[in-house]
Amino acid sequence: MAKKDIAWSELGFSYMRTNSIARIKFKDGKWGAIELLNDPIVPIHVAATCLHYGQAAFEGLKVFEMKNGDIAAFRPDENAIRMQNTADRLLMECVSTELFLETLNVIVKDNIDFVPPYGTGASLYVRPLLIGSGARIGVQPADEYDFYILVIPVGPYYKNGLSPIDAWIQTEYDRAAPNGLGHVKAGGNYAAALYSDKLGKKAGFPISLYVDSREHKYIEEFGTSNFIAITKDKKYVTSDSHSILPSITNKSLMTLAKDLGMQVERRKITIEELENFVEVGSVGTATVITPISSIAYGEKVYKFGETGKVGETLEKLYNQLQGIQYGDVEDKYGWMYKI
Ligand code: PLP
Ligand code: COI
Repeated sequence: MAKKDIAWSELGFSYMRTNSIARIKFKDGKWGAIELLNDPIVPIHVAATCLHYGQAAFEGLKVFEMKNGDIAAFRPDENAIRMQNTADRLLMECVSTELFLETLNVIVKDNIDFVPPYGTGASLYVRPLLIGSGARIGVQPADEYDFYILVIPVGPYYKNGLSPIDAWIQTEYDRAAPNGLGHVKAGGNYAAALYSDKLGKKAGFPISLYVDSREHKYIEEFGTSNFIAITKDKKYVTSDSHSILPSITNKSLMTLAKDLGMQVERRKITIEELENFVEVGSVGTATVITPISSIAYGEKVYKFGETGKVGETLEKLYNQLQGIQYGDVEDKYGWMYKI
């Protein structure tokens, strides 16, 4: 199929209508067949639990056109497992890894003309979504669920990709409770951060860094991504907390950092420790590695690296990760899943 006529290298991270959306319905105790819908407007029961009680889980992964022409997804089995964990936590029906991958194959093949060509720096963003669609008015889980996968060609999440951006920490509004939902990908986590993210953007910070909700002392993660930092002696440091999302990108980068001979530390990180870091990054599917130039916290501003430039270690990790994803670097761990 001929590629769509799109300015691939200029893509940002916005919704775009593509050929189809995949849907499977869970009804009468079983999952039905995969349907391909052309219309993105879907009917929903007004008493569906996703609308009232937040039974909504989502995922995010990317599909790449590789150097050798293969079309492949990055570690989609990990997303399937994480969605099962979210479903368990929200008492929703799980989608098996097998069904998740089957649906991924179907939807990507039907939208193959939207997969950005190799060399454009863009990719196909895949957004699986699981919602309680059965009607309830008392607070209880639904007995019917809809599983969707939509796909959208995307470029960088934050403007200019590898150009550093400024972050802030505020402690007036919390994102995730210590034993709440932060460790799963529940839609409500993102609703919880909209207000404080907006305050941040208004103050000139495109990205917000959240700290733990109990003591407001330890760094957790960004609203969109995990937090990583590099020390003067080139250690890779990342937060350990029950209330942050286990990032597949961060997990992969820890492996790549060890391969580069770096020491990796996953532990509690206090805000004051920001003083010791020479590079800081936001890492995730959408943000890949987005360097952070500064973090404002009250009157204090922590600065990292040279103004406007990505640091050498984050750049090296970025090149390794994207190299594997686009097929320029050997995929020795078998992370790329061929469609
Ligand atoms: N943390 C949050 C809050 C996220 O939304 C994401 C994105 O999915 C991540 C971390 C990064 O996770 P992953 O690398 O699996 O995309
Ligand atoms: C992703 O990186 O896939 C996410 O889901 C993050 C979201 C803020 C776009």
